[in-house]
Amino acid sequence: MQIIFAKNAAAIASFTRAIEGGGSFTKPRFLSQDGEQGPFPENAGRAAHLLTPLPSRTATAAIIHHSLLLFSSKWSRALVEHVADSVVEGGLVILPEPRTSMIPLIGMEDLVEMLDSPVDSMEIDSRNYLCFAAPPRTTTPSTPSTLRWSIDYQDQLKSDEMDRAELIRRFDTDPRPAFLDVLLAEGSRIQPPDPTLHAPVDAARAGELFTYFHAAVAPKIAFVRQLANSLDIDRELHHVDIGGGMGNLGAELIIDDDCRVATSLNVEFDAARLIMGRSLLDMYESRLAGNWVFQPAFAQDHGFHDRADLITSFSALLYVPRSELVACLDRAWASLNPGGMLVIYEHIKHPRFVRDHGWMFEKDELETLMRRFGDFSCISGSSLAPMANDAVAEKSVYRVLRKSS
Ligand SMILES: C[S@@+](CC[C@H](N)C(=O)[O-])C[C@H]1O[C@@H](n2cnc3c(N)ncnc32)[C@H](O)[C@@H]1O
Repeated sequence: MQIIFAKNAAAIASFTRAIEGGGSFTKPRFLSQDGEQGPFPENAGRAAHLLTPLPSRTATAAIIHHSLLLFSSKWSRALVEHVADSVVEGGLVILPEPRTSMIPLIGMEDLVEMLDSPVDSMEIDSRNYLCFAAPPRTTTPSTPSTLRWSIDYQDQLKSDEMDRAELIRRFDTDPRPAFLDVLLAEGSRIQPPDPTLHAPVDAARAGELFTYFHAAVAPKIAFVRQLANSLDIDRELHHVDIGGGMGNLGAELIIDDDCRVATSLNVEFDAARLIMGRSLLDMYESRLAGNWVFQPAFAQDHGFHDRADLITSFSALLYVPRSELVACLDRAWASLNPGGMLVIYEHIKHPRFVRDHGWMFEKDELETLMRRFGDFSCISGSSLAPMANDAVAEKSVYRVLRKSS
């Protein structure tokens, strides 16, 4: 049996076509980021998602066919450990050859530290793959990471998803718990019916949702850690995430011993997402308790009274009502310590974004907002390489503003 993990069913299909000719892969089990099983009805029993617990030491080979794995992050290490652990000793763990010159944070040395040097390489679908021999099993995978937590806490996550449904049910009734009032407040454009809020409570769907939340944040972790560690501030750092979902970015930064972020506050109105994080707190209590705070509030209502060293907002500012956005960003910027950093990532309005098209930012609008605080640099969201602003157009980039010391 082999295991193939790819971004989605389409990637799996193209990949499978490419390797079929070789005849060496039979009856693989497919894992995809979003758990799609579409083109593989005959494999329905073998298709799963990123967080599916895998039996240890059963597969002869595992292929991770995914474009951006930053092995320098604990999250990616946990993913590689998770997949490698499913392979028999001496079996193959196969990964796309990282284009290290293109992507600065790949962390090839971290991969070699985990799996030793590659023993072979192979070309699949015009792309070069590195083959590593699965190491002997000495310990269970243990890299501390929100991914590890999600895999270990599958069952609990499913029941959290049920709590979430329970929240939504109560949400529609009176009297409702006071802390849920924030969910009903006017102002944000993400209001029920939001499909993620009303997701059916079945295990597979819950897994897909968690996979989605993970996959969205995963590439950002290594990048934000690098930015945090580059700050010229000589103490432990406080991070604030605006619209941080279940808060896994902040949690990941705190859990990571190589990251200088010690505390993180998530300003997030959707209290249902807090519920997802409850078991994360259980698993990493000594690191997270008291340091990882979920503030159930709309960003536009938040005072930003605590001093911050690093403020991030990824795909969330577009939902803050425009009439309150300037004041909200002013408060956030004022709360930033000298030498601190504001990092904003927003997709730019484009017809391909259907659901949010009406309130997405135009490039000029977002950049005018940011220029009020000074010049910013742009970092490509896909390659993580710096980009000149006039080359950005509608590409999705991190916009990074440093506050002078
Ligand atoms: C697309 S998700 C992005 C989540 C996370 N930042 C990421 O990159 O995966 C947008 C998040 O913003 C939150 N949000 C929307 N409007 C908000 C507001 N006015 N204040 C705070 N959070 C908000 C939503 O609840 C949701 O968790």
